[in-house]
Amino acid sequence: MKQNEIIYGGDYNPDQWIRTKEVWLEDMRLMDLAHINSATVGIFSWARLEPREGEYDFSWLDEVMDLLHRHGKKVILATPSGARPVWLAKQYPEVLRVEENGVRNEYGVRHNHCLTSPVYRAKVRQINRKLAERYAGHPALFMWHVSNEYGGECHCELCQAAFREWLKKEYHNDIDELNYKWWNGFWSHDLSSFEEISSPKYRGENHVPALKLAWRRFVSDSHISFMDNEIAPLRELTPDVPVTTNMMRLYTGIDYQKMAKHLDVISWDSYPTWNNYDNTDEANAVAFIHDAFRSMKGGQPFFLMESTPSIVNWKPVNPIPQSGITALSGMQAVAHGADSVQYFQWRKSRGGHEKFHGAVVDHVGNENTRVFRDAAALGEELSKLADVVGTSQKSRVAIIHDWENSWAVDVFCGYFSEERDYSGECIRWHKPFWKRGIPTDVISMDDDFSRYDLIVAPFLYMLKDGVGKKIREYVKNGGSFVSTYLFANVDRDDLCYLGGFPGDGLREVFGIWAEETDSIPKGDGVSVRFDGKLYAGNTVCDLLHAEGAEALGSYGSGFYAGTPAVTCNRFGKGRAYCVAFRADGDFTDAFCEKILYAAGVRSEIPFAVPDGVSVVKRGPFVFLLNFTKQDYKIELDRAYQDVLDGNQKSSVDLPAFGHAVLR
Ligand code: GAL
Repeated sequence: MKQNEIIYGGDYNPDQWIRTKEVWLEDMRLMDLAHINSATVGIFSWARLEPREGEYDFSWLDEVMDLLHRHGKKVILATPSGARPVWLAKQYPEVLRVEENGVRNEYGVRHNHCLTSPVYRAKVRQINRKLAERYAGHPALFMWHVSNEYGGECHCELCQAAFREWLKKEYHNDIDELNYKWWNGFWSHDLSSFEEISSPKYRGENHVPALKLAWRRFVSDSHISFMDNEIAPLRELTPDVPVTTNMMRLYTGIDYQKMAKHLDVISWDSYPTWNNYDNTDEANAVAFIHDAFRSMKGGQPFFLMESTPSIVNWKPVNPIPQSGITALSGMQAVAHGADSVQYFQWRKSRGGHEKFHGAVVDHVGNENTRVFRDAAALGEELSKLADVVGTSQKSRVAIIHDWENSWAVDVFCGYFSEERDYSGECIRWHKPFWKRGIPTDVISMDDDFSRYDLIVAPFLYMLKDGVGKKIREYVKNGGSFVSTYLFANVDRDDLCYLGGFPGDGLREVFGIWAEETDSIPKGDGVSVRFDGKLYAGNTVCDLLHAEGAEALGSYGSGFYAGTPAVTCNRFGKGRAYCVAFRADGDFTDAFCEKILYAAGVRSEIPFAVPDGVSVVKRGPFVFLLNFTKQDYKIELDRAYQDVLDGNQKSSVDLPAFGHAVLR
């Protein structure tokens, strides 16, 4: 089904209202009022689809599919593997997860399944096949939403055995190779067979970083193969219906960049901590995540699968965001490449764990609420933005934020264990570009570098095979590459590169040798002189020797005062930079201004905006998003059409937490 409008909808759980079907009809009336054009159905419906083993009841879902279709709504149909019926767990206990302590969970909650269990995989495949058989060709079926927020891990015997098989493949069935790469001579940990290996555990082996890394890779691969298993019948029976699954922010349990290759559409659930004071930093973080999801399929639009129209129920305190913020949040997603704005959920559940979670329709049950009115207003606005659907922008700048590197950063011992904060570091480096309205992709180290003029790789501690060579080629051919502290210290098994850091041949490319790494206690800092000004660094810094690189900045404090802290090496046609310390926002801003200029990358936004106002171009539109509590008047460089109110304007009034879309 071709998409010619922004999908506006969300999780719809009519199966919770099966005894009061008049509610379904009221839902249709209210959805029309709110400009809702889609519904995501069946996410946790297994027990109502297969109440007893092998006994199926699709009657209610048939009705819902037909009802939604009659009202012109597209259905995103979910597969129910995220929560299972109690009969399944009682009859086949192996489907339940075993925790790290070796104890099998009892039936309960959701997302509590073994990733390997052949029984569970077969049952999931079977219910998915039934769904696909039944709804193949249904005119409302728009997309598949497999499972829900895959995550967690299982330590059962089946998973342990699968882990060993996985390791055998990784290490060519050669235990000596594994011993060498895991450096098992340390503490007498040499293994004589793969059968001696089990998952890292608090009570067992938890000091071998390479084991921990391997386990994380294995768990991630297990989720992906679990997902492939459930997608198979859908692709077979409904080859034209795209498949997605909802991801969670920068969740580190699964390599989303790898998972993305198995999906047709990327989607994610966004629950930012918005407040009613200033949302600039959170907006930067969310922009980064949107950019990451958009980049996972080379710039293809993604879906905002869930968000809340008001509050959530799972943060310790859940203050109400004032009117404007939900719409701003939805518009931000669209600006960064989303082709949908969807909520969890359409109607508040009457009972259960999430009954006080925000929803478009409140327990009062009608359209006369602030939240409903706000959602309806956003729906109307989104209906004016159909021309954005399917468009993507070309980014000349990329930040490397690589899932496997995040694991490597997590597992090593040394230097500073608090605030490794890999993602936070990438987000901080994204800010100067976000602020300037410069489109920025967020990529993995496996992606194609040659598309970009400038790549920033914060805290890129681990390099996968071949990445050193790739960086060398990229710089040689004219790219600008920014590295930071602890750059290229280890290979993919966490073995240190010998011969001086950065390793993997990069010492020559960057013209530096990072001899030592200093860790800076909280409250202390390091100062850095750059372009005639003093800036502050914190947490960690490398002590560099320039071996051909030009020092652009030097430390201003400590026994290493005067030594290089910021370097640039001309290598081939490009520039290889190193910022050897964790920098604050003032430094990254000043530094990025300089390197953007050197790389010939300019902001495409021809008018000025204050801090906290983000300007994003997508397709024919320019989005203005005010994340502050100040009202602003933005003077434009020429007359634009305000798409939302239809007027021609050369200046725009942007109220606190307001937005505008220009053409
Ligand atoms: C999501 C989940 C939804 C719902 C929501 C509440 O993480 O996918 O099912 O629980 O959180 O915020």
